[in-house]
Amino acid sequence: MKWDSSFAIGIEVIDNQHKKIFEHLLAIENSVAKRDPWHILRFFVAQLTEYMKFHLAVEEALQEITHYPECAEHCDAHVRLIEQIASLEEQLKKNASGENLVGFFEDWFIRHVLSNDRKFGAYVKAEFPALLATTAAPNIDRADVGRH
Ligand SMILES: [Fe+2]
Ligand SMILES: [Fe+2]
Repeated sequence: MKWDSSFAIGIEVIDNQHKKIFEHLLAIENSVAKRDPWHILRFFVAQLTEYMKFHLAVEEALQEITHYPECAEHCDAHVRLIEQIASLEEQLKKNASGENLVGFFEDWFIRHVLSNDRKFGAYVKAEFPALLATTAAPNIDRADVGRH
């Protein structure tokens, strides 16, 4: 599945990261579809895990600096998201041909974006509109971290 503009939450830096997560998920889907052996598939899963952790840390930092009242609850959902990836990894390891496993995780991730993340987007828009302009440029990405 590809990222769709209907998944946008209105914070550009976060939306761009969500797009990247969909790219990582697509790489896993393609690898599963090609019946790649586990030692190849695990590379794509590791990339998703690493990028997801980075993304969640950025989101949590933004929630902290904006004193988001639902920060604790949202962070709990992030812990579950990481647990879901770990379980996806375990299941793919056992049965690399399970296409629907990735779809199941994707649905779970989309639900998080459309409920929890969108709610946070609306909060930032209402309370910290100036932050939207700040986070829109430059586009902070994992690749930029550590280069400065
Ligand atoms: Fe989130
Ligand atoms: Fe998110």
